[in-house]
Amino acid sequence: MPSVEVMHEETHQGIHLMCRENSGPSYRRLEGKVAVVTGGARGIGEATARLFAWHGAKVVVADVEDAAGELLAASLSPCATFVHCDVSHEPDVERLVDITLSKHGRIDVFFNNAGVLGSQSKSRKSIMELDADELDRVMRVNVRGVALGMKHAARAMVPRQSGCIISTASVAGVMGGLGPHAYTASKHAIVGLTKNAACELGAHGIRVNCISPFGVATTMLVNAWRDVGDEGEEGTAMAMDLGRPSEDEVEKTEALVRRLANLKRATLRARDIAEAALYLAGEESKYVSGHNLVVDGGVTSAMNLIGL
Ligand SMILES: NC(=O)c1ccc[n+]([C@@H]2O[C@H](COP(=O)([O-])OP(=O)(O)OC[C@H]3O[C@@H](n4cnc5c(N)ncnc54)[C@H](O)[C@@H]3O)[C@@H](O)[C@H]2O)c1
Repeated sequence: MPSVEVMHEETHQGIHLMCRENSGPSYRRLEGKVAVVTGGARGIGEATARLFAWHGAKVVVADVEDAAGELLAASLSPCATFVHCDVSHEPDVERLVDITLSKHGRIDVFFNNAGVLGSQSKSRKSIMELDADELDRVMRVNVRGVALGMKHAARAMVPRQSGCIISTASVAGVMGGLGPHAYTASKHAIVGLTKNAACELGAHGIRVNCISPFGVATTMLVNAWRDVGDEGEEGTAMAMDLGRPSEDEVEKTEALVRRLANLKRATLRARDIAEAALYLAGEESKYVSGHNLVVDGGVTSAMNLIGL
């Protein structure tokens, strides 16, 4: 059955919706745009690469997981590409941007999504047990990686005086007690970097925003909580990358997140974060910049000390 394509046209009077029949996906919000997604091989990045491609974007998936990244790009569209890129290594990020520019001539959306949680065992949670090398490793990927992404994305976007940079922060970048120390510091830094970059790049018509998700049962979170018991205690396998989780493990993690959540009767999924990224990437958010779009069902707004 043909679907209805909804197009909008902005006039001084407001938005006019125009509908016409179409056999393809309805209303492609990123038609013809060029979007880079780092950490795009799995999890939130994969869901976003899929959604962006569905909405007509030419997607460049960047990751250190070559096999998964290649496979994903091949499944998206003939316009999708995979580029190996360690976001903490500047020559890789520079090459990612250069390859994208030579293939597509421009970058409209750069999604700095790659990130690591870092390893931390139950016995090494305390700040007094902080492993400085581990701190450096987390900051290298999460902060240096995002800063380099912003730097090289801006290099591509400033000459065109347009573009949009999005980064994945976290609820751990909004308040304390939601992640290990290094991770929390790194995610707070992403929110700060977003505001500063938005401040500078606004003069060039470039929008810079970030997204702060609550728990999504991706490989990162499932592995981090692998040994979590019924009492919600952390296990010893904090964030070690033990491969893709099974369906059972995903369901168990989702159940645990639902238990901790403020908003009941809903399960946060990677697709929900991809939808937030789609909003920030598209025309619908054309005046939104320097913003941290928190997708947490109210967790960071609701302490509920008085038992409402
Ligand atoms: N899952 C959650 O609950 C959650 C919550 C808040 C924020 N986040 C953030 O979302 C982002 C995506 O995480 P996810 O949950 O999809 O995890 P994930 O582990 O499933 O995916 C992360 C991806 O990033 C890639 N990556 C890691 N280091 C990289 C590097 N140096 N260079 C390039 N790619 C690299 C990995 O190979 C992987 O494909 C991260 O920034 C994470 O901190 C996740």
